[in-house]
Amino acid sequence: MNQALLLECAARYGTPLYVYDGDRVLEQYRSLYDFIDYDKLEIHYAMKANFNVGILKLLRDAGASLDTVSPGEVLLALKLGFDRSKIIYTANNMTDEEFEAVLSLGVTMNIGSLSRLEKIAKRHKGMRLCLRFNPDVTDGDSAATMTGGDLTKFGILFDDLDKVKALVDRGNLKVIGLHEHTGSGLQHTESVYRSMDNLMAIATPENFPDLEFMDFGGGFKVPYKPGEARVDYRQMGREIREKFVAFCQGYGRKLKLYFEPGKYMVAECGSLLVTVNTIKHNRTRTIVGCNSGFPQLIRPMLYGAYHRIVNLSNPDGKEAMYDVCGNICETGDRFAEQRPLPEVRESDVLSIENAGAYCYSMGGVYNLRPMPGEVVVVKGVPALVRPALTNEELVDRILAMSDGAIPKKA
Ligand SMILES: Cc1ncc(COP(=O)(O)O)c(C=O)c1O
Repeated sequence: MNQALLLECAARYGTPLYVYDGDRVLEQYRSLYDFIDYDKLEIHYAMKANFNVGILKLLRDAGASLDTVSPGEVLLALKLGFDRSKIIYTANNMTDEEFEAVLSLGVTMNIGSLSRLEKIAKRHKGMRLCLRFNPDVTDGDSAATMTGGDLTKFGILFDDLDKVKALVDRGNLKVIGLHEHTGSGLQHTESVYRSMDNLMAIATPENFPDLEFMDFGGGFKVPYKPGEARVDYRQMGREIREKFVAFCQGYGRKLKLYFEPGKYMVAECGSLLVTVNTIKHNRTRTIVGCNSGFPQLIRPMLYGAYHRIVNLSNPDGKEAMYDVCGNICETGDRFAEQRPLPEVRESDVLSIENAGAYCYSMGGVYNLRPMPGEVVVVKGVPALVRPALTNEELVDRILAMSDGAIPKKA
């Protein structure tokens, strides 16, 4: 993002602050329609990546569909005016109450376990639904985000196809879609093709005669590290199209093609701006202390993820090596370890890049520090979509929500 604009946002709204480039989000969304030239393509934005209301409104107006994973996400999407027909619900390990509540909202349920399918066959005869299979392909940018293969809780095994068909028959169910999601940040484009092939292999008219769509999940990676190659999505789009068109010919009908990208849509569109307040020399290391911490951007600590850091206020400073740390009471509270940066001084504003996906949305208030505010920039104009709570507001909310739990004096 434009560095002068980021500094202007930091000065105007204070830090820590998330800034998102709304125009870039729309570009990313539209680029997939350009790359995958198939007239029945639907992009379902995985809103778990970033549920900022400004971003969701931009995507709603652009006609996007959604991938949702909790009742809260569905409620937010409906309240923002997303049409229920554009929402898929892919929660895992849901309770009966959650299942019934979300079903009553009229979104398409995506079912990833035999146990839930058995209950549906008993209680919801004739239901239209999508089935999530484990693609039997293991890939992703961290072990925690790989969702195919033997070590994952997600999806129904292909081995259980006969059991699935028996339950579908017993409940007279209408399977209108098949789904797989291989993982987040797929390292090999080959994994996308293999997962597609594996799912398409069971999608025969004999097994599933009522299909309307095939959903091949998200996982499109973007570069995080300097020099990391950008995937040739135009080429990948061509291969996807070719595969899917051939599949539809075999199936006997032109089906809709769904993908559910999160990271691809928003990761590169966001920055977390922080201000340096302490420089400390600890024998072998120079520690940069700033006014944010891992609860506000957890990916480095959780996955060992690399996020590029830009010294916005001293870009031409002499390069030195730093540990960039937060303000949380844990030694692991680091955004970067042994990172070369232009000289960092107290009061400098740093931008932690690629902070648009799985950063704010994975956040929390550990140590009781309010989450940063969020700005969305559209056509070069920043708007504070959600201000940060003050410390007083955060504490008052906790007290108000906890009132009933405070033991009364005898
Ligand atoms: C079912 C499902 N679809 C889509 C996504 C989005 O993944 P990504 O943000 O890597 O595109 C996820 C996240 O892991 C997911 O679990």
